[in-house]
Amino acid sequence: MSFSAIRTPLRRGVLSASFRPTATRSSFRKFSTAAPPPAPKSSNTALFAGLGAAAIGGIAYYVYVSQSDTAREAGTAVRGAAQTAKVAANFTPTKADYQKVYNRIAEIMDDAGEYDDGSFGPVLLRLAWHASGTYDKNTGTGGSNYATMRFEPESLHGANAGLVVARQEMEKVKAEFPWISYGDLWTLGGVAAVQEMAGPRIPWRPGRIDGFAKDATPDGRLPDASQGALHIRDIFYRMGFNDQEIVALSGAHALGRCHTDRSGYEGPWTFSPTTFTNDYYKLLFDEKWVWKKWSGPKQLEDKKTKSLMMLPTDYVLTQDKSFKKFAKAYADDNELFFKDFSAAFSRLLELGVPTGQFVASDAWEMKTIEEQSS
Ligand code: HEM
Repeated sequence: MSFSAIRTPLRRGVLSASFRPTATRSSFRKFSTAAPPPAPKSSNTALFAGLGAAAIGGIAYYVYVSQSDTAREAGTAVRGAAQTAKVAANFTPTKADYQKVYNRIAEIMDDAGEYDDGSFGPVLLRLAWHASGTYDKNTGTGGSNYATMRFEPESLHGANAGLVVARQEMEKVKAEFPWISYGDLWTLGGVAAVQEMAGPRIPWRPGRIDGFAKDATPDGRLPDASQGALHIRDIFYRMGFNDQEIVALSGAHALGRCHTDRSGYEGPWTFSPTTFTNDYYKLLFDEKWVWKKWSGPKQLEDKKTKSLMMLPTDYVLTQDKSFKKFAKAYADDNELFFKDFSAAFSRLLELGVPTGQFVASDAWEMKTIEEQSS
């Protein structure tokens, strides 16, 4: 592709590619917490649930003010229980309520100031993926159901470095909509990120519940970017995906960037890291990729501008025969990529959630902000 084809994101300024400085951590280390839910008035059952919830909420608040960051995150499980009690007592959220949550996420995503490319969208998408991609189909463990990344050691796994930024942004939403489970919130964050960055609709439905530290998954379930095709297949087949779905999901790297202080890798994959396109595949085939000469981990850079990157696992999509067939198809056909990404990502977000837990038999399509305003 020609480098003049830099696309403008629909709802935000395009990255001035040589790129905005990454904000320092301190500038976005903000915390918020949900107030303990008020005691419901409607019945005795509700009253007891409410009192219990308030008591648990009080403990959670104590944990919040007196503990470390990680303990604070663990405290959210206690708040989660309080909120579940409240929901059970007197409130059943409707699709319209979830749309309000979506809208708030979309707003927060854009309110990113100097952070990265001016959007929290990519990191929210990565949170949704890492929360779901721990699924193991053989044991039925992991996946998005229990939002176990709130707990150590999962929150500290190398693959999750930097996702504290996304979890903190999501805490703001949780404080306003305390009834939503973390699993639903984080996966809805992934949906909002893709849709608001001009990607396809992602069918989604709520029903995940908050789990506990004991449900946290072991390290090593998420892919290691330094490895080859065998490893990628091991990881994604374990989740139940096939080669075509692996390649379609990898197209999410059209968005966002690598950070030396998180993964060790550096730079964005495309010139429009806040707009969802099939440029990732186009660039993989159209540009000449060479190993970057630097002291960091092995990664590729485009020979022409040296401003874009590919991970070893990205480059494998052009080397492995089966992966290459799909990657080429997506490079040639954006519509096909959108369709296949939507199906695979929607499925990814539901991994580990017992079907009976979902509130609807068919997944919903949440409306974009643009659609609601027109
Ligand atoms: C072989 C599979 C994959 C590997 C090895 C991989 C690896 C990585 C690495 C090393 C980063 C950089 C993290 C950082 O330094 O901040 C990253 C970022 C990202 N990944 Fe992946 N990834 C894979 C698949 C996926 C999938 C399936 C999705 C979503 C469906 C995804 C979405 C993202 C996004 C949006 C970012 C940018 C985050 C940001 O800008 O903060 N990745 N990935």
